[in-house]
This record gives sequence, C-alpha cells and structure tokens, in this order.
Amino acid sequence: MEQKVPSEPLAYEVTRNPAPASNAERARRMDAPPFGTEFTDHIAKATWTVEDGWHARRVEPFADLVLHPGATVLHYGQQVFEGLKAYRWADGGIHLFRPEANGERLARSAQRLALPALPVDDFMASIEALVGVDAAWVPAVDESSLYLRPTLMGTEACLGVRPSRTVEYVLLASPVGAYFPHGVKPVSIWVAQDFHRAGAGGTGQAKTAGNYAASMLPQQQAADHGCEQVLFLDAKHDTYIEELGGMNVFAVRRDGSVWTPRVTGTILEGVTRDSVITLLRGDGRDVIERDIPLAELREGIESGAVTELFACGTAAVITPIGRLVSPEMDVLVGDGGAGALTATMRGRLTDIQYGRADDPHGWMQRIV
Ligand SMILES: Cc1ncc(COP(=O)(O)O)c(C=O)c1O
Repeated sequence: MEQKVPSEPLAYEVTRNPAPASNAERARRMDAPPFGTEFTDHIAKATWTVEDGWHARRVEPFADLVLHPGATVLHYGQQVFEGLKAYRWADGGIHLFRPEANGERLARSAQRLALPALPVDDFMASIEALVGVDAAWVPAVDESSLYLRPTLMGTEACLGVRPSRTVEYVLLASPVGAYFPHGVKPVSIWVAQDFHRAGAGGTGQAKTAGNYAASMLPQQQAADHGCEQVLFLDAKHDTYIEELGGMNVFAVRRDGSVWTPRVTGTILEGVTRDSVITLLRGDGRDVIERDIPLAELREGIESGAVTELFACGTAAVITPIGRLVSPEMDVLVGDGGAGALTATMRGRLTDIQYGRADDPHGWMQRIV
C-alpha cells in the first residue's frame, strides 16, 4: 500500500494516566508474572488513513481498544506485530537490543499483509515515548525486562476482502520475569505431523497473527505428547526442519560447525538467530545455513555427530533442546542436558543485553 510522507513531526503526545498503579501495586504486579500477562500504565498509538498517512501519534492511559465489530483485523487477520525487550542495566539506564532490526522487520511484515509500513524512526519514537513514561515498569531484577509488543492492525469496518483503509498502530509494554523461573532446562520438541506452519509464497516470513493461529493445534499436540514446543517441517517436501512455533533452531556438530535452516521465505528471520550467527562467525566458527533433512538430523543425533540442539528467540533468548519426538522416534540430544556451546551463547547474549559485557557490534541503544 502506498506510503504517505508523514506530515507532522514524530513527537508522541503524552496524556498521563490519572490513576497509575501505586508503587506497591506495581511491585506486586511485576513480581514474576506469567509471561505477557501484566501491562504498564500507558499505551502508545498512531493512526493511519489513506487520506492523511500516519498521524495522531500519542501515548495514552492503558485501556481497552474500541474496535468496530466489522474491523478487517477481526475477520481477515490483517495484522502484523513485533516483539522486543527493554533491559535495565545495573546503572539504572534502560537499553534496547537491535530495535531497528525489529522496526525493519515490522515494515517487511506490513508490506506482505498490504498494511502501511510504520517508518523505523516513528517506531523508535513510539518506544522511546512509551518507555520514557513507563520507565518504572522496567524491572531491575536479573533476567527480567520490559517486553514490548508493537502491532499494526486494519481497523476499517468493511466485510469486503480488501486492505483496510484505516490502520491503527498500538504499542503495549509488559514487564516479564525470567522466562525460566527455575533456571534454563532443556525442552522436548514434538515434530509436527500433518501440519505445516508456512508454504512457499505464504506468510511464513512475516510476523503475522495467522501464522501463530495455525501453530496452536500442533502446539497442543506437542503438549499431548509431553513436549513443550513443536518443530515444523517444510510444507513442500515434508522433509526439512524449519523452525519452532516461536523460535529459530540451531544444531551444533561434533566437528565444531553449527547448522541452522537457511532462510527460504517460509521462516521468520529472527533477530536472535542473526545475532547468534554473527557471534559464532566472529569466533571463527563455521556456521552453515542450509536445508537440514529431519532424517539427517536424527542420524546425526544418534551417531553423536550432532552434539547440541538449541532454539532461540527474543522471549527465551536461547533454549537447549534435550529431546526430539515424533511417532517414529524419541531421541535424546547428547545426554539430554544443556550443551556447553548452548550455555555459552546464552550467557554471551544476555551479558551484552544487560550491559555486563562489551558490545562490539553496537547492538545496544540507551533510551532512558
Ligand atoms: C516463528 C518465530 N520464529 C522465530 C522467532 C525468533 O525471532 P526473534 O529472535 O527476532 O525474536 C520468533 C519470535 O519472534 C517467532 O515468532
């Protein structure tokens, strides 16, 4: 959809919540909530119309949305979103990790869903405005952060199947505790049967609601088989591993190389995936992006050629995979515990994100 040049400055006008949570209430709600269940006192928004482009940038008291029951997003899922975190460092400063990468991916996702892209500087301005107002909601506890959820949605009341002529940008913020309150434990992965996440030419590369809706039944089946996560194979050949419901996947080999599925248009290009590849290559490691047949992965695990498997994404950073399960197999990766490289990479990334280590790639941006 054609993008109008913004006609007003990128300032988000702030209307303060007249009844914000008290210090005690906020502390209670920030104390280890289940992921994504608590929200801050404010919300950032901007509105797009065909006539005026992006306008009405604002930060408001957090409240329910008013949406026409005929809104495009509710019927046809014309929606895209992002997920990134604000981290509080020991000195009290608040930092983002590679936020432009999320802003750029939001724009790419929007393009696929025929939504107007929100310019990256506008995306950044919205985050700075919201986190500035809700800075007290950024936890100072180790491994916790303020999870940010930018979303674009078609809001026009129209049951015709066509791109919405009005679009709302909404940015939510949710304080999150350590993803693994009892420490990082290896997860079991169920290989999806009969279902695929994405096909060639579909929306797999976009971060859009429909992909996640389609992953819920296979995710339920994973749980029915005692697994925490589901692994999808490619739709065309039903052969190559792609990704989990919400994380990219890596295999560490005994020869020191690391393999990950190549980006084909059906996989979400994770910011964490790219960061892990950059760190590993910086160490001189061979990182190979290629098609990985499930059968080859299984053989490698069984022969010991594959020593570690891990998943990565913003929410859980890096998660060891201890077990791979399908109707035909049930194999432990290594001894089923967290591998050494997996643990090292998790530590290195989180040290950069929390300011405990140098940031040679300039990934962190201070916003408060
Ligand atoms: C389907 C899917 N794959 C991979 C990822 C990892 O992406 P990132 O590292 O940018 O969070 C996510 C999470 O956003 C995801 O939803």
